[in-house]
Amino acid sequence: MASVAPHPPTTLVDPYGREIETLRVAVTQRCDFHCLYCHREGESNPRRELTVGEIGGIAAAAVSLGIVRFKITGGEPLLREDLPDVVEAIASHAEEVSMTTNGSRLEGVAEVLVEAGLGRVNVSLPSLRREVFREITGVDALGRVKRGVEAALDAGLTPLKINVVMLKGLNSDEVPAFVEYSREVGATLQLIELQPLRRGATVWRRLHLDLKPLEEALEAEAVRVEKRREQGRKRYHLEDGAVVEVVRPTSNPGFCLHCHRLRLTSDGYLKPCLMRDDNLVDLLPLLGSGNPGGSMREAFLEAVRRRRPYWGVEGEG
Ligand code: 5AD
Ligand code: SF4
Repeated sequence: MASVAPHPPTTLVDPYGREIETLRVAVTQRCDFHCLYCHREGESNPRRELTVGEIGGIAAAAVSLGIVRFKITGGEPLLREDLPDVVEAIASHAEEVSMTTNGSRLEGVAEVLVEAGLGRVNVSLPSLRREVFREITGVDALGRVKRGVEAALDAGLTPLKINVVMLKGLNSDEVPAFVEYSREVGATLQLIELQPLRRGATVWRRLHLDLKPLEEALEAEAVRVEKRREQGRKRYHLEDGAVVEVVRPTSNPGFCLHCHRLRLTSDGYLKPCLMRDDNLVDLLPLLGSGNPGGSMREAFLEAVRRRRPYWGVEGEG
């Protein structure tokens, strides 16, 4: 018996039956922070940054294949001075455009971004203690980021998510403070398990914290639990009105099983998986040449064909 689809069907389905719904668009690799844990969205040594027109063309091809949701990432997207134009180029095709940002430059531009078509933001905020914030990011910017959060909320970039990568011995005792802060400002708190970095096994060994116990505690405490489609995540509603999500990819086969995203790197590759760079599809040769529409769509299909779950393929059976 067929069940009713919870969302409009897309035409892109990978070899593991996962529908592709979201394109994460890295618009730059530059960043003004130096987070200890940064995975740089799996990129290194960019060739060049795509132009506004190129990003718009790629977004149009994605939309023609049923990908209607876009997340702008980086690096720090706001280091691009033409970011409002980038947002507009995507939003003119898309149903939904959101962005992840370190928040330090949001104040003053949040409204311009809304006018350009941005719907909501995730702000990375790794500590509420000024010194710890600086230790993690390399920058004394806690105050600026908090003002950025407020500016985004005032501009209507909601539901706003506060992203916290949990780091053992650094911010791991701040969960209650984060829950309270997020509830007070009216944001959803997203606690993220540290993912291994290609360079930096020692950072991972030192700072990685298994979030399973934390998730179990939230499960016990929650007055309501929602199951989200995205990566099989759950959303916990606490008694005081706080809303908390936990992102737990490591050794979690369900995480990849429910992955519905493809990535575009800042320099023009389609990237089927954050954790790998041996399966990229190069879009640069297709840009600027006569009528790239058909070959661009074919490139998307190829990237989707190359998708394999990273966590949990071995050891599952
Ligand atoms: N593990 C988990 N999350 C990370 N982020 C950056 N590096 C890592 C990592 N190694 C987070 C950022 C941001 C989101 C896009 O990814 O904090 O919130
Ligand atoms: Fe990386 Fe984001 Fe930190 Fe910049 S702010 S260093 S992109 S995690």
